Amino acid sequence: MSEIQKTLDNLSQENRTFMPSPEFAANANVNAGIYEEAEADRLGFWAKQARELDWDNDFTDVLDWSDAPFAKWFVGGKLNVAYNCVDRHVHAGHGDQVALQFEGEPGDQLNITYRELMERVCKAANALTELGISAGDRIAIYMPMIPEAVVAMLACARVGAVHSVVFAGFSAEALRSRIHDAQAKLVITADGQNRRGSVMSLKPAVDEAVAASPSVNHVLVVQRCGNEITWGPKDVWWHEFVESQSSEHTPVAFDSEHPLFILYTSGTTGKPKGILHTTGGYLTQVAYTHRVVFDLKPDTDVYWCTADIGWVTGHSYIVYGPLANRVTQVIYEGTPDTPGKDRWWDIIERHGVTILYTAPTAIRTFMKWGDELPASHDLSSLRVLGSVGEPINPEAWMWYRSVIGGNKCPIVDTWWQTETGGIMISPLPGVTATKPGSAMRGLPGIGVAVVDDAGTPLGNGKGGFLVLTEPWPAMLRGIWGDNQRFVDTYWSKWPQYYFAGDGAKLDNDGALWLLGRVDDVMNVSGHRISTTEVESALVSHPSVAEAAVVGAADETTGQAIVAFVILRGGMEGQDGTSLVTELRNHVSNEIGAIAKPKKIMIVPELPKTRSGKILRRLLQDVAEHREIGDSMTLADPSVINLISAGLESSSTDD
Ligand code: PRX
Repeated sequence: MSEIQKTLDNLSQENRTFMPSPEFAANANVNAGIYEEAEADRLGFWAKQARELDWDNDFTDVLDWSDAPFAKWFVGGKLNVAYNCVDRHVHAGHGDQVALQFEGEPGDQLNITYRELMERVCKAANALTELGISAGDRIAIYMPMIPEAVVAMLACARVGAVHSVVFAGFSAEALRSRIHDAQAKLVITADGQNRRGSVMSLKPAVDEAVAASPSVNHVLVVQRCGNEITWGPKDVWWHEFVESQSSEHTPVAFDSEHPLFILYTSGTTGKPKGILHTTGGYLTQVAYTHRVVFDLKPDTDVYWCTADIGWVTGHSYIVYGPLANRVTQVIYEGTPDTPGKDRWWDIIERHGVTILYTAPTAIRTFMKWGDELPASHDLSSLRVLGSVGEPINPEAWMWYRSVIGGNKCPIVDTWWQTETGGIMISPLPGVTATKPGSAMRGLPGIGVAVVDDAGTPLGNGKGGFLVLTEPWPAMLRGIWGDNQRFVDTYWSKWPQYYFAGDGAKLDNDGALWLLGRVDDVMNVSGHRISTTEVESALVSHPSVAEAAVVGAADETTGQAIVAFVILRGGMEGQDGTSLVTELRNHVSNEIGAIAKPKKIMIVPELPKTRSGKILRRLLQDVAEHREIGDSMTLADPSVINLISAGLESSSTDD
């Protein structure tokens, strides 16, 4: 049974609701009135949220939607994002508050106060200027989860440079193509990172990517692990160059629509999309959502978002939203199983974490590892639990609530995307009665609907497509270098709505249930990977003639990548097992380890319609070991039997 079907089935059974406790509600940052306030005057509501920030020039208009779908928010306003995230807290007397409680995987720890963070960001900003960076230039960041990653992003924002963070698990080729697409002038990286008790080198991938990137003038390298690396003429050490800069830097205010960052994400074609975010609207929404969804109390909370800065969650809910709200937060470099499988619970206990924001795939992994591990630590400091990245199944939700949250913490299941920039759908702790597995409803200020094929909004009890009905401040402003693709992808199915690409259902009480992607995008451990991207990687191998990739339901990772490949003529005689290993590694080299197929099946044919379109639905049935669905539209119905027959003989599963 597919995950979607399971979720649908659970809908009819899921009658449990959890009210916020009276104590939580009494102290919550917001109450139910916030929905009415936003409804009564949506733009006025957003203007009020924007004014929580420090603007050098006030804005004249809240929203200019005259060039839809290209929005302008807080028109005419000017502000500096780094100033808002750091300096203003120091100036308000909070310089000694710890901003980052960093913990390296080997156990090294470093607390960085807002004053120290300001000095570090200023030095880095001065370094960028000395390296010839000016406002509007693009900078690629390929770094582990260390404080310098946060400093690097803020330094870019401070000087108006546009960062493009590339997840450090991506391959040299993935990094190169992103550097190329954005024409980045500088790469910021580290020698290596600590993963699972050993040093994983990062610099070789950068060297390879930079060798093929004429746009790059310099590579700024943080010494994290001290591992041996090759040094080239463009390389500059962070600890020499940045550390020797002045710790004074006067921030310049940028226009509300000045580009802040590009973040590449998978779409339905092989080429990742550079999602473009700008300054004022983005910062407004991430700060607002972080404040109301996590009920942040800057003086007492210790917040921990376990995402990597390589993903949008790390951008919006480690760097920009939390720091704008003067958070004290934990940053952890390594994996959850090092040195033991209780590392996270140990971190929560030692740092006194009060708000935890993580992903369903992690929760399901911990469920598998057993209740004894969290039970052996004192987790009583926790008061809010968040989930993001994929639908959370009711079983995992209940486990999270009882085993991690001690049945006392509200759970906020937050739906959003790289494109939306900030959280769009989520319960509000202290306000919303939650149902296990439901993201409940759109946040105040956000317009959400579930529509049918014709774009007609559906009532309760119906399933369809999730759309956003109103522009929102943190919305993407386009796809870098390809505005037509922006219009085609999100605004062509129904021009009046933003099409998110997700299926959703409203239950009989009007609660929203997300049902996964409706396009050719897979969700593996909460990460988006397009089927086409993996197919292109497979076909780039000399042995492969054709490939079809599907996401099959997986208990831990949500979906797992399953590939069907046809070999080129003359290759059929090869040793299947070693070829499958080679192909899996090939995909890993082309894209990154997260895209490595779990299973590869070598098949003689692929199921196609008479017009040549691959019928993925049938392949999905095969991959999920289901009875094969309707194969009437197949040009050659016998193909599917051939594939099923060959299934077990050519797969691998490690
Ligand atoms: O399918 C939805 C799923 O993740 C997609 C967005 O992926 P990405 O841009 O990588 O951003 C992930 C982190 C925000 C969505 O289209 N998704 C995200 N959060 C949820 C979710 N699906 C169900 N429930 C969620 N809470």
